[in-house]
Amino acid sequence: MNVKKIAVIAGDGIGPEVVNEGIKVMDKMAALDGTIQFEYTYFPWGCEYYLKHGKMMDDDGIDQLASFDAIYLGAVGYPGVPDSVSLRDLLIVIRKEFDQYVNLRPIKLLNGAPCPIHHGSNENINMTFIRENSEGEYSGAGEWLYKGKPEEVVLQTGVFSRKGTERVIRHAFEIANKENKTVTSISKANALNYSMVFWDEVFKEVSKDYPNITTYSYLVDAAAMHMIMDPARFEVVVTSNLFGDILTDVGAALAGGMGLAAGANLNPEKKYPSMFEPVHGSAPDIAGKGVANPLAAIWSVSQMFDFFGYANRGKEILQAIEQIMVEGKVLTPDLGGNARTDEVGDRIVQLLDQ
Ligand SMILES: NC(=O)c1ccc[n+]([C@@H]2O[C@H](COP(=O)([O-])OP(=O)(O)OC[C@H]3O[C@@H](n4cnc5c(N)ncnc54)[C@H](O)[C@@H]3O)[C@@H](O)[C@H]2O)c1
Repeated sequence: MNVKKIAVIAGDGIGPEVVNEGIKVMDKMAALDGTIQFEYTYFPWGCEYYLKHGKMMDDDGIDQLASFDAIYLGAVGYPGVPDSVSLRDLLIVIRKEFDQYVNLRPIKLLNGAPCPIHHGSNENINMTFIRENSEGEYSGAGEWLYKGKPEEVVLQTGVFSRKGTERVIRHAFEIANKENKTVTSISKANALNYSMVFWDEVFKEVSKDYPNITTYSYLVDAAAMHMIMDPARFEVVVTSNLFGDILTDVGAALAGGMGLAAGANLNPEKKYPSMFEPVHGSAPDIAGKGVANPLAAIWSVSQMFDFFGYANRGKEILQAIEQIMVEGKVLTPDLGGNARTDEVGDRIVQLLDQ
C-alpha cells in the first residue's frame, strides 16, 4: 500500500467547509483504487490562530510540515487580520521554504460550466498556466524610506534569478513536450527593461532545447485581451508571479468562476512537500452558511492524484466534476443551484462509484 501523509491546513472562512469535501473525495478514490491510502494530520493554523497566538503558524511550522508528502490547504484570510499578514506569514512562507516554484493552474472549461464569453467552448478554453511561484515581483524585497515624510519613497523590487527563471520555463516546456502542446511566454519587456528583457532571453534560450515545440511570446496587456477574444491561442503558458496571479483570475472567470479554480504549488523535484489548494480565498461573505462551492477544492485533489503518479484517478475526479455540472441538479448557488456544500461532495462521491 502506498501510504501518503497529508498535512491539512483547512484555514479560515470557507476553507474548512470545502476541504472536508475534498477529503471525502480523496478517501473515496483511495478506496476505489486500493493501492493508495491517505493519513491526515490537521494543523489549526490561520487567522483564528493568529488572533489567539499572534502568529499564523507555529514557529517551527515549516519543520513540522517538512516530512509530509503533500499539504492540502483550504484558504486563509479573515476580517481583523491584515491580508498582508495572513498571506505572507503562512502561504508565502510555505511556498518559499518548500521551494514550490511552480504554480500550476489548469484553465479548462468543462462541459456544463458557465462561461461569460459567447464564443467560449471546451475546445477553445483549455490552458495550463505555469506561474513562477518563488520570486519575481512577489519576492518581498524592497524598501520604505522616509515613512510619513513628504519625501516618502517605496521600492518594490522584482527579483528574477537565472536559476528561478530558467527552471520554471523549462518545466513548462517539459509539460508541453509530454502533451504535444505549444508554449506561450507572457512578459512585458517593452516597459520592464531589466527583468522582462531577461525573462524573454531565457525563454528563447530554453526554447532551443525543444526545437519541435511551437512557441509564442506576448506582452501581458495583449495577452489579457487575447485570453478573452481568442483563448484557443493558449495551451501551456509560462509567466511571472504577478502576471500569472492576475491572468489566472481572468482564466478562472473564463472557466466557470472562483468556485471551479484549482491550483497546485509544486516542488517538482519532490525534495519538499507540494501544496494543493483552491485558488479562491476564505469568502467571509458566505462562510458558515454551508453554501461554498467545493469543486475547486475537489479539483485540487485531482491535481494531487496526478502529482502522486495516479493521473487516471485524477482524470476520473475531473470527469465526476464535469458530470455534476452537466447534470445541473446538485450545484451550489454560485453555479445557479441550491445545493449545500456537503451535498455536492456527496454527489461527487456517488458519481465516482458509477
Ligand atoms: N489562497 C488563499 O488562501 C487566498 C486567496 C485569495 C484571497 N484570500 C483571502 O480571502 C479573504 C477574502 O478575499 P476575497 O473576498 O478577495 O476573495 P474570495 O475568493 O474569498 O471571494 C471572492 C468572491 O467569490 C466568492 N467565492 C469564493 N470562493 C467561493 C466558493 N468556493 N464558492 C462560492 N463562492 C465563492 C465569495 O463569496 C466572494 O463573493 C481575504 O482575506 C483574502 O486575503 C486568500
